[in-house]
Amino acid sequence: MPRIAILEDDPLVGRRTAELVADGLAHETTLATSPAQQAAALDGAAAVIVGASFGGRPLAATLAAAREPDPRRPVLVVCASGDADAIGAAAAAVGPLAVVTRPVQASELLPRLAAALERAEQARTIDELTRQVEVRDRALASTRGQAERATAALASTSTELATATERLVVAEQLAAVGRVVTGIAHELGQQLALVGYAEALKTRVAEDPELVELADVIVGAQRRLLAMVDAIRDFTAGPEPALAKEPVDLVTIVDDALALLRHDPDVRRRQVQRIVTGHPLCLAHRGKLAQVVINLVHNAALATATGAAIEVAVREADGGLAELTVTDHGVGMAPAVVARLGEPFFTTRGDRGSGLGVGICRRIVEEHGGALAFSSTLGVGTTARVTLPGLVGVGA
Ligand SMILES: Nc1ncnc2c1ncn2[C@@H]1O[C@H](COP(=O)(O)OP(=O)(O)O)[C@@H](O)[C@H]1O
Ligand SMILES: [Mg+2]
Repeated sequence: MPRIAILEDDPLVGRRTAELVADGLAHETTLATSPAQQAAALDGAAAVIVGASFGGRPLAATLAAAREPDPRRPVLVVCASGDADAIGAAAAAVGPLAVVTRPVQASELLPRLAAALERAEQARTIDELTRQVEVRDRALASTRGQAERATAALASTSTELATATERLVVAEQLAAVGRVVTGIAHELGQQLALVGYAEALKTRVAEDPELVELADVIVGAQRRLLAMVDAIRDFTAGPEPALAKEPVDLVTIVDDALALLRHDPDVRRRQVQRIVTGHPLCLAHRGKLAQVVINLVHNAALATATGAAIEVAVREADGGLAELTVTDHGVGMAPAVVARLGEPFFTTRGDRGSGLGVGICRRIVEEHGGALAFSSTLGVGTTARVTLPGLVGVGA
């Protein structure tokens, strides 16, 4: 129940006002008849009724004291009914609806007091609602921030997904190409066997050197095509379940390969230097690893001029690794070419290349638990480096 403070010099008028308030609105009252009692009366009051000249002081001073703890606390000013100046000043300070004339009438005082209390209550409600709206605004702003962050995260996830999907599509396409190519290679191999009849024809036309030469061209082409079909088969066959491996000296594998390469016309016209600074042992499939050396040396030969040197080196590298390098001082490769090495069918040799050599080498090396890396400078040369896990203490 709100309590009303009454500041009124005249005790009779003050009590009369208090009675009106108590009877009409059932509000408690506290009466101050001098400025000395003012503070106690005002303390905790919901509204204040003041005499216009309370304590002989200017109205502004009394109003300031009445509104001191809460500028919204309603204040009614009581003026002598004939004092037009006082009524005018009071109306200017608190508004005409908060001015009451003396002698105080219930019909005038009570509705104005009730209205003032209601306005104050409404103001408090509006304040509270405004505060709640502000709290909600802040919550909304932070929710919006979270939503924006979540959206950004989602966008980046979706980009990643798109990239992954793209890669998957490419992988799928490559796999499909692989299947088609395997079929074609099979068919080609069978048809190519028939081309072998050119060999038989040669004996029949032995007396015509021109026809013999043409037959030789056909036989040569058949051999090259069969080799290509073999390479494609090797590439698309996928890893063998388990290579039969044995402990071997990497040097003997290099020697196997170099012996075979003596029959390769491209390699024969280059200076192959064998540099052995160690005999690392590894667990290897001799034939497969020899194929790696053959491919790498053959690539080196095609990248160099006739008579150029190609170095094939074997050594024991740090960490118990067996290392084989094939170095040429040929045309070298641009970084974009190095990046694509091992990609199926990637070749810069047009009809002469299959673009399968490096991919096959890499797969064989990886089947041995090793790695194949290239370092190359355009116009300077290339080094292909095979590293394999060494076999420590076996046969040493
Ligand atoms: N030693 C090298 N020097 C320069 N380029 C090379 C060398 N080795 C490989 N390359 C490049 O890599 C490509 C792919 O090689 P490879 O997979 O063996 O296929 P291919 O020899 O059939 O073209 C070659 O076409 C060539 O451009
Ligand atoms: Mg090659």
